[in-house]
Amino acid sequence: IPVDVFDLVVFGGTGDLAQRKIIPGLYRRYWGGHIPPESNIIGAARSELDDMGYRALAREAIAEYVSEDKRDPEVIEAFLARLSYVAIDAKGTDGWDVLKTRVRKGTVQAFYFSVAPSLFGDLAERLHLHEIANAESRIVVEKPFGRDLESAKALNAVLAQHFTEAQIYRIDHYLGKETVQNLMAVRFANILFEPLWKSEYVDHVQITVAETVSVDGRGSYYDRAGAMRDMVQNHMMQLLCLIAMEPPYHFDPDAVRDEKLKVIRALDPVLPDDIVRGQYQAGNGQGGYLEHCEDPASKTESYIALKVHISNWRWKGTPFYLRTGKRLRARTSEIAITFREPPHSIFDDAEGWRENVLVIRLQPNEGMNLKVMIKEPGPGGMRLTQVPLDMSFAEALGESGTDIPDAYERLIMDVIRGNQTLFMRGDEVEAAWGWTDPIIEGWEKRGDKPMPYDAGSSGPEDALMLMHRDGRRWREIRE
Ligand code: BG6
Repeated sequence: IPVDVFDLVVFGGTGDLAQRKIIPGLYRRYWGGHIPPESNIIGAARSELDDMGYRALAREAIAEYVSEDKRDPEVIEAFLARLSYVAIDAKGTDGWDVLKTRVRKGTVQAFYFSVAPSLFGDLAERLHLHEIANAESRIVVEKPFGRDLESAKALNAVLAQHFTEAQIYRIDHYLGKETVQNLMAVRFANILFEPLWKSEYVDHVQITVAETVSVDGRGSYYDRAGAMRDMVQNHMMQLLCLIAMEPPYHFDPDAVRDEKLKVIRALDPVLPDDIVRGQYQAGNGQGGYLEHCEDPASKTESYIALKVHISNWRWKGTPFYLRTGKRLRARTSEIAITFREPPHSIFDDAEGWRENVLVIRLQPNEGMNLKVMIKEPGPGGMRLTQVPLDMSFAEALGESGTDIPDAYERLIMDVIRGNQTLFMRGDEVEAAWGWTDPIIEGWEKRGDKPMPYDAGSSGPEDALMLMHRDGRRWREIRE
């Protein structure tokens, strides 16, 4: 569905995110005919560029990050013609009057703060001081949204001085992933799963976000964050919420966010024994974490596994095991829900019996796999075996299953539509930090060091123990 005509200002418009995600994403939507051709995209940053220079940068970004089948020279030129650039001083006065002339009254206005959070306040203030933003304008902010509860509160407060909550779009790009949204469709558009979706029937849940990349090149940011702040507080928390939340009464921004917030508030503090942190070592010709972060004594984790309990009626007694890390065996993100044993087995010879597992593959090879028991074929009596009911979206949906829009693309269009469902509300972010802070403070106070793990492995040995001692095991990390 095409959106209304808009003017989108991208602060940090020459930055990495703009080049890798924002510009290519907007282009793909333009190519798909979803953006009205009268819309304008205005890059704003410190560099002294002109419109032509900015278009050249955008042309390169498209060449690099848009797949060839969507790169139509005529469409590219038409798209680039909608781009312009303003050199701006976020902390001063330069450029703001020019920017004012570029943003039209009466169109949808969105301001993307693709800059360091320390500039959020300056930008918000100047947008008002120069009378560029109005009560309808939207602002988009990126993670990291703070590094603890206190800084997140300060950011919320600074934005709230100039914008209402309904104008603020806090991005967690995991919510823009098609398969993440699909979690809600699977749960709430089928009758099959929801009756079993509770501790009575679910033994445990595993959430895995494994990556093969290192932190090389972004060590200075990463070393101050670590896997807990970089992935768990936001992306993994969102996945956990979508799996654990109660059905919202409607697919509506506040209805969904209210339910997610209740999950975060019901999270128990995590015990030290239920946390395993790791750091990858050098291997396969590549450096180890300590070389990538440049602090030879760093205690920051590039891997973390946690056992999490949710204290509410639905989930009491069902642990959620979370793990994420860099330089692991494969890039794969999935959620696996392991169900309990049937209350009584009618088969004396229940050999071969295994639990039902529902696996939702988020990336790559998006799909679902439900493991069910059947009779092993043959004359040997009633022997059981497990088979997968396997569905890959690409196979099931044909072309529309493979052409999955990038998360940013989807989210930017939601900003223009004014739909906040897939964005984090201020109280949600604060609650997530409220749960995260004591966990981090705990290991800092104890002086815990992360366990080393080999690059290309499944993470530290101790993480296996986290499940073994509960009589459970992690699923294998593989593509
Ligand atoms: C980012 C993190 O938010 O998400 C990165 O800062 C991480 O460290 C990335 O690599 C993972 O995103 P995706 O979409 O590749 O799974």
